[in-house]
Amino acid sequence: MNLEQHLRAQWNRHAQDWIQEDQALRTGLLDAWMLDALGDVAGRHVVDIGCGEGRFCRLLAGLGAEATGVDLTPALLARARSLAGERETYLEGNAEDLTSLGDAQFDLAVSYIVLVDLLEFHQSLEAAYRVLRPGGRFVVCNVHPMRTAVPYGWIRQGNTKLFYALDTYTDEGPREFEWWGETFVNMHRSLSTHVSAFLDAGFVLEGLREPTPSAAQLAADPDLADEFRVPNFIIFVLSRPAS
Ligand SMILES: C[S@@+](CC[C@H](N)C(=O)[O-])C[C@H]1O[C@@H](n2cnc3c(N)ncnc32)[C@H](O)[C@@H]1O
Repeated sequence: MNLEQHLRAQWNRHAQDWIQEDQALRTGLLDAWMLDALGDVAGRHVVDIGCGEGRFCRLLAGLGAEATGVDLTPALLARARSLAGERETYLEGNAEDLTSLGDAQFDLAVSYIVLVDLLEFHQSLEAAYRVLRPGGRFVVCNVHPMRTAVPYGWIRQGNTKLFYALDTYTDEGPREFEWWGETFVNMHRSLSTHVSAFLDAGFVLEGLREPTPSAAQLAADPDLADEFRVPNFIIFVLSRPAS
């Protein structure tokens, strides 16, 4: 199996694992940062590119958005459709071309930890740009490049995390790690590669955030204290210029 086939097959094989996965980092930390970056979504047409089983679309629709989720994994889409309320639409499609979507259809686009799964990263950004209306915003959350360089790189002494071993940062490409009892692959790209690709696609970089927990989030989940030590996620706030 080549890399492209592996990247696609892994989500098909593990759709049920993903549906059952603990989403504490999203619900307890990242969602608040994503919603803050998106602004008021009520009445807005939002596309969630790589929507998985639709959790974030459901959240957006609950806030009044017209949410469209696109994903490549049929079992995840089936789950999303089974839970969908009004204002939610799910389409099978590839983030690398978004051919199921027309031009300039959306006010907002979301990519919530999906870029690590994509081989044709530049094409996916061009597709996101195409489906956004001029003036629209694209909020991208990804695993932080300092983490994708060495997945699960904490160096421990007993139960104590001593430090995170960052290495091979400029060596971009696939990284293998164990997840759900199998070899999973994420794509590692540097921070400058991300920013250059966004700019090359035509986006304006409006903001860059490295999420840490609020006092309330930390009180609710003390394990989030590690998020102050080494960046785990990164959020890029991008816009398609109005003209
Ligand atoms: C880590 S999951 C994130 C799902 C969702 N964004 C969330 O936050 O719950 C990655 C998702 O990307 C999807 N995906 C991977 N490659 C894709 C592609 N080329 N086009 C569309 N979706 C893809 C997978 O099917 C999976 O649902």
